[in-house]
Order: sequence, then structure tokens, then C-alpha cells
Amino acid sequence: MTSATDETYRLKDAPVDKDRTAGWSFLRNLGDGARDADGAWLLTSPEAVQFALRQPRIFSSARAFDLLAGPVRLVPLAADPPEHKKFRRVLDRLLAPRALDAIEDSLRAQARELIEAFADRGECDVMRDLGQLFPPQVFLTMAGMPLEDRGRLIAWTHKVLESASSQDEPDPEVIESSGALFAYCRDILAQKRRRPGDDLISHILAVQGDEAWSDEEVLGVCLLFCFAGLDTVTSAIGFTMYHLATRPELRRELVADLSRVTTVIEEILRLEAPSPFVLRVTTEDVQVAGLRIPAGSQVRLCLATANRDPGTYDRPHEIDLHREQCRHLTFSTGIHRCLGAHLARRELRLMLEEFHKLIPEYQLGPGADPQVVWPANTLHLTSVPLVFP
Ligand code: HEM
Repeated sequence: MTSATDETYRLKDAPVDKDRTAGWSFLRNLGDGARDADGAWLLTSPEAVQFALRQPRIFSSARAFDLLAGPVRLVPLAADPPEHKKFRRVLDRLLAPRALDAIEDSLRAQARELIEAFADRGECDVMRDLGQLFPPQVFLTMAGMPLEDRGRLIAWTHKVLESASSQDEPDPEVIESSGALFAYCRDILAQKRRRPGDDLISHILAVQGDEAWSDEEVLGVCLLFCFAGLDTVTSAIGFTMYHLATRPELRRELVADLSRVTTVIEEILRLEAPSPFVLRVTTEDVQVAGLRIPAGSQVRLCLATANRDPGTYDRPHEIDLHREQCRHLTFSTGIHRCLGAHLARRELRLMLEEFHKLIPEYQLGPGADPQVVWPANTLHLTSVPLVFP
């Protein structure tokens, strides 16, 4: 497929809610690029998507997140080069695999405790009992904050993200949640300035000299961790458990050899990208995928279609643990590639290892037909009920 379609389409017409294979095929069949009836442009092929991701000066993210941003800039996502480097220099080190090793035991114990709470019950809802709880706990652990704050954090972030995905004007509850989340992050910052600890925020505040961050920048990264690092992992936990519950052979292969866990994670991340689009705004006229996109246009780079490219993968819509390579774009590429990719993978691995040690056999609850809310910026199954002996 090399051309762009002449027709406009509507994102909501892609049947993503029931069946991502049908949904992403609908978008891919529009061509390498297309134009939404809402005025935004869409790129679908791996070549076009990577072309855009590797030119952050033309495909800028500085204005792409205005919807979420509120009072501060969401750094590093909303920063273009060369400024962007200053943030990643510090953050990459703090979220590197070696830094995560130091908290692995604590995160494993937390995952185990959440699973133990329902292991004897014979049923659970993966989203309610695990997926929505574990990622906020991880954030609180890394920020050095009490785990009791989990409920509030979940409620605020859900409200704000739900509203960012819809076309409606934010209602008073959304504005209240956004204000409460902002105030909470500001409190963390004030606490860490007063009493620095061995946590992520204190390490950022400790940077001195020309590279030192302003309070707004630290607040921006705190908020971004909540927007980018909670719902996405919740989503990946749900999709992973759904596919394992509906594929007994795959699950038994994993239980027989838990070292296959990383392959399972990567293949399901490829197939079910939690954030299917990356948003950009063009800073100049640009020619790509047979389209001429004018300066100032909104562009959706579709990671989900790029991940299922038939030119890259045999049987692209199937889970295959024996692929020679699985270099998906779920965590994006280029300068804004996901900062939390190592953390997300670690959370998924610990959760899957502990779950399968305690509950090796399970299936979807009777009559369950999990679906995602669509359109949305982050896709997740609303409920994944399981039953087990
Ligand atoms: C499975 C889980 C996750 C997925 C699928 C995911 C996906 C992504 C994607 C696609 C981007 C690129 C966005 C863009 O270029 O516009 C991104 C960036 C980012 N993610 Fe993640 N993410 C996940 C987990 C996390 C976690 C746990 C954190 C928390 C640390 C995190 C923090 C970030 C940050 C800070 C950026 C911006 C990086 C930059 O601009 O340099 N993400 N993520």
C-alpha cells in the first residue's frame, strides 16, 4: 500500500471497540495516509509513522497536548529539541533498568499482595482488582508517597483522561479533578523540597546549576507520569490477561516456562497498543505518504496499524511467540520514545509472574465479552472478569 486516500473518513467509524483487527484494518485500508472529517491527518504505515517521529522539528509535540496540559507544560513530552534533551538526560537515568532493580522486591511484593486478596475467591475482575490498582501504587512508591493516596490518584486521573478523550467541553467535575491532581503534585514537590528522600522527585530537585529544573518543570513531569504512566499500564495488564484467558495453549506454555513472560508481553504489546496514536502538529508544509500536509495541521501517527504491518510481520494479527523479531512501535521511537518503557515492562513482568504462580488456570467469566471504549486516546477493556478453580 503506497497511496493516500482521496476520501475523508471518521475515526469513530473504525470498529475498534469490538475487534481491533477489524478496526486497525479499516484505518490501514484507507492507505498510508488519510484525512479525518474532523480535519486531522492520519498516517498508518510504519514508514510514514517513523518518518514523522524522527522529525520532531516538523512534527512538533509542543502544541499537541494542549487538551491535557492545564496550567503547566507536560515536560518532556511538550518540549521540542534542543530543550527536550535537558529533561531526558536526568530522567533516562532515573528510570533505567538498574534504578528499577532497587525497587523490584517492593513492587513484586505489592503485586503479590493484590493478587492474594482475590486468589481464594475463585473470581476477579482484572481491571478492578489489579490493573487499576498496581500502576498508581508503583507511581506512589517511586515518588516516595504513601500508598493510601492511591484511591484519590486513580479517581482524579481517570476523570481528566476520560474528558481528554471525548469531544465534549470539560464539566465542573473534570475541572475539579484536574485542580485536585495539580494541587496534589504541588504538595509532593513542596514536601520533597523540605525533606528530600531517595525518590524520583527528590533526585530531579537535586539537579543544580544550568541544568536545574524550575518548579513548573518538575510539576509538569509529575503530572505527565500520572497521565502517561498509569492508564497505559492498566490497559496493558487488561489486554495481556484477556488474551491469556482466551488462549489456553498460550497460557499453559507460559506457566510451563515463566521465562517466556517477556516474549508474551512484547507480542501482546505489539498487537494491542494501549496508546494507538501519537499526536503531533506540523510546523511547516510537509510531503509524506502521498499527502501534502500544510503547516499548523494536527496529525495522528497510528502506532497500532504500523505494528500490524503485513510487510514486516507474517500473520500480523496473530499472537506468535516464535517470531524472529518483534520490534513494535508501541512505545514510539525518536526523541519522545516512552520514558517509562522499562518500568512498564517490569510492572507487567512482575504482575504476570506472581499471577501465574498463584493462579495458573483461569478463564473468562461466563458470558463475558470484554470491549474497549472508542474513540479514546488510551484504549482499555472496561472489564476482564475471570473465574478459576
Ligand atoms: C504499557 C505502558 C505504556 C505505553 C504503551 C506508553 C506509550 C508511550 C508512547 C507511545 C509515548 C510517546 C508519546 C509521544 O511521542 O507523543 C510515550 C511517552 C512517554 N511515556 Fe509512556 N507508555 C507507557 C508507560 C509509561 C510509564 C509507566 C511511564 C512513567 C514513567 C511513562 C512515561 C512517559 C513519558 C514521560 C513520555 C514522554 C517522553 C518524552 O517526551 O521524551 N510511560 N509513552
